[in-house]
Amino acid sequence: MSSTLSQATEIDRLLGRARSEMSEGRVPVEIFNSDVVFALEQERLFQRAWLFLAHESELPDPGDYVLRSLAGNSVIVSRDESGRIGCFLNMCRHRGNQVCKASEGNASHFRCSYHGWTYANDGRLIGVPHIRRVYDPGQMQRSDWGLVPVRTESYAGLLFGCLDPGAPSLEEYLGGFQFYLDLYLRPGPNGTEAYAPPDRWEAGTDWKICAENFAGDGYHTPVAHQFGFELGYYASSATTHADGYAVHIPHKGHGIGLGQTPGMSPFFGYPPEVVAGMEDVLSEAQLSIFREVRTAVGTVFPNLSLLIQPFSTVPGEPGVRFCTMRLWQPVGVGRMQMLSWCLVPADASKEYKDAAYRAYTLAFGQAGMFEQDDFDNWSRVTRMASSPLCRDLSFPYFMGLTRAPLDDFPGPGVVMQPYMTETNFRNLWQTWLEYLERP
Ligand code: FES
Ligand SMILES: [Fe+2]
Repeated sequence: MSSTLSQATEIDRLLGRARSEMSEGRVPVEIFNSDVVFALEQERLFQRAWLFLAHESELPDPGDYVLRSLAGNSVIVSRDESGRIGCFLNMCRHRGNQVCKASEGNASHFRCSYHGWTYANDGRLIGVPHIRRVYDPGQMQRSDWGLVPVRTESYAGLLFGCLDPGAPSLEEYLGGFQFYLDLYLRPGPNGTEAYAPPDRWEAGTDWKICAENFAGDGYHTPVAHQFGFELGYYASSATTHADGYAVHIPHKGHGIGLGQTPGMSPFFGYPPEVVAGMEDVLSEAQLSIFREVRTAVGTVFPNLSLLIQPFSTVPGEPGVRFCTMRLWQPVGVGRMQMLSWCLVPADASKEYKDAAYRAYTLAFGQAGMFEQDDFDNWSRVTRMASSPLCRDLSFPYFMGLTRAPLDDFPGPGVVMQPYMTETNFRNLWQTWLEYLERP
């Protein structure tokens, strides 16, 4: 009892401190790499938010499935024989064994390796060994014991799941951010596809550091990734890198940085067929922004991020525009599992898709040069944040705090200039806090 009480007091103290500091443009170091915060996030944020599960192109045929994690739960995402995609808790209803163990595959059914209960790929329980000998007539109704379904909704090929039956629809949750997601997800009539299964790795990094960085941290790029600039892999320069916009959706947590390089040709790095596809599909307001964008780096709150940018596979050569989508999944205090995809326009040529995947791998694959730069920094931040001396300190988050947003931008949300600012991050922390404060 006393430990529960002292835990509740500690949570109140921490959230109170976060609320008062965030209102002044500061963030307490102690929200990172903290066991109290980790447990609270699991309960109050990840059990309530819409979380990314899979790209529908990962399941092209009936029977295709992928194993994913949803708020720490193992779940099966599968396309059934009629072509519908469903998501189920990967737990046998008999004694709780995991019924699926492979990370991906194709199966008409899942047979539990413990006592042999068998489920169709639409979740129905279809086989119970010795059912007539061990159960009395009418006692075991297979229809009562199917795999537990998870609520899902999708946007432009991205399937999300939510454990909170009372949560708003995905459309409401995204709250207008779809306008910017289209820059990644609707590069032609057939949208995008995942080039390959996701790269996966674990890192000693608090997931929040990554989600924040991808909500538009243009500030770190010319420094952390200076190597890429200097060698000529990257079509920007340290002097012009602040140009562009930062946009966020208030109280939703979503944010995007739209970096521009003066003089860069429109849609630089895309082949003509992709440019034509976008001009067919996107609105004039979307096109007027995207034509001029070099880098679009955004986070769908809480932990899905997307990035588009041109990158040269040979230094000095023209960049190839690639798109990566990544999921920062907390797996422990100060630890995360990374899933990183390369998305390509479904209607593009194979030649371009291959080139985009090479550029992605070189920059943001597991051993990619940008990826290495980022995780080295992020893991050190995480390590430092747990020290008793550091936990009492605060980080400054007041860039842009006293500036007015633009009022003539053609897209939704709160829009700030320049690209380098912290308005998106304050909104992300505000939203994070609103989830954690809700009992
Ligand atoms: S735990 Fe699955 S059949 Fe018994
Ligand atoms: Fe980076």
